[in-house]
Amino acid sequence: MKETLEKLKETSIDLIKNAVNFDELEKLRVRYLGKKGELTTVLKGLGKLPKEEKPIIGKLANIVKLEITDLLDEKIQTLEKKKLEEKIMKESIDITLPGRRLDPGRIHPITKILMEIKEVFVGLGFAVVEGPDVETEYYNFEALNIPVDHPSREMWDSFYFKPGLLLRSHTSPVQVRVMEKQKPPIKIIVPGKCYRRDSVDATHHWMFHQLEGLLIDERVTFADLKGVLLEFARRIFGKERRAKFIPSYFPFTEPSAEMAIDCFACNGKGCNICKQSGWIEILGAGMVNPKVLKAVGYDPEIYNGFAFGLGPDRIAMLKYRINDIRLFYDNDLRFLEQF
Ligand code: DAH
Repeated sequence: MKETLEKLKETSIDLIKNAVNFDELEKLRVRYLGKKGELTTVLKGLGKLPKEEKPIIGKLANIVKLEITDLLDEKIQTLEKKKLEEKIMKESIDITLPGRRLDPGRIHPITKILMEIKEVFVGLGFAVVEGPDVETEYYNFEALNIPVDHPSREMWDSFYFKPGLLLRSHTSPVQVRVMEKQKPPIKIIVPGKCYRRDSVDATHHWMFHQLEGLLIDERVTFADLKGVLLEFARRIFGKERRAKFIPSYFPFTEPSAEMAIDCFACNGKGCNICKQSGWIEILGAGMVNPKVLKAVGYDPEIYNGFAFGLGPDRIAMLKYRINDIRLFYDNDLRFLEQF
């Protein structure tokens, strides 16, 4: 009996040690420790042994059982470790490969100039407001004192969806929308897109930007307008800038003016940028026409104010020395990557 056990122990140890996979191990477990396994059979036969042999053989059988169990456990662990190592090897990444580069995006020059302009006006206490791109004729024209059939409508001809509804041709309608909702004092700027049926060339595009300004309060003067706009011009084009106001016409302002600054490129001497004149027109402005105030229910005897409209596309072209408005909208990365 003792010999059988010894032999059983030897062969099983050999076999288990040489097993190469989980399947083989499981078979060996069944072969020795299973219900009908070799060692189980020995243990079952213990009862038939003579009394004095029972404890000795019993003890030995138990030791063999423990050894086989331990060895099986150990082998399972070894195999698992091997499996994991193989998996890691297979999945391993090559950290010497250079990563894929993500180029950072750039700020579009129009966004950039809008940020700069907004910062100036917000610093002067103006709030930023936006209005709809799809506008009614009433807001785009009538409320701004541009009656139907008025020849000046030609200047703001736009794209119509149906009679009475169009893509706004300027940001001025937002003046009216804000005044209808709020009581003075009002101090706003309105950046946004505008649309016109213009033929596209180096200085015209069917879609462009405007930034409208409106200040309404009691006893506002043309000096206030000049002060605010000169500050704007100096912050954008240099603190030594001078300005002049040339009489002009807009139906929604009276009096109206174009503001020109002395050329920042040649300091007024005359160059390509100012077309040898020394001056560059940068915006339209004026004192809000009492008719516009009346249309929104303000009493022009109490309230008055000034308004202005400037073109961020043009300001950006001047400031960044860009000679063609189309560059803003072509989506050519060679251009956009320079900002
Ligand atoms: N809306 C005008 C345009 O598109 C620009 C403008 C001029 C706006 C004078 C104003 C202003 O508010 O006072 O040509």
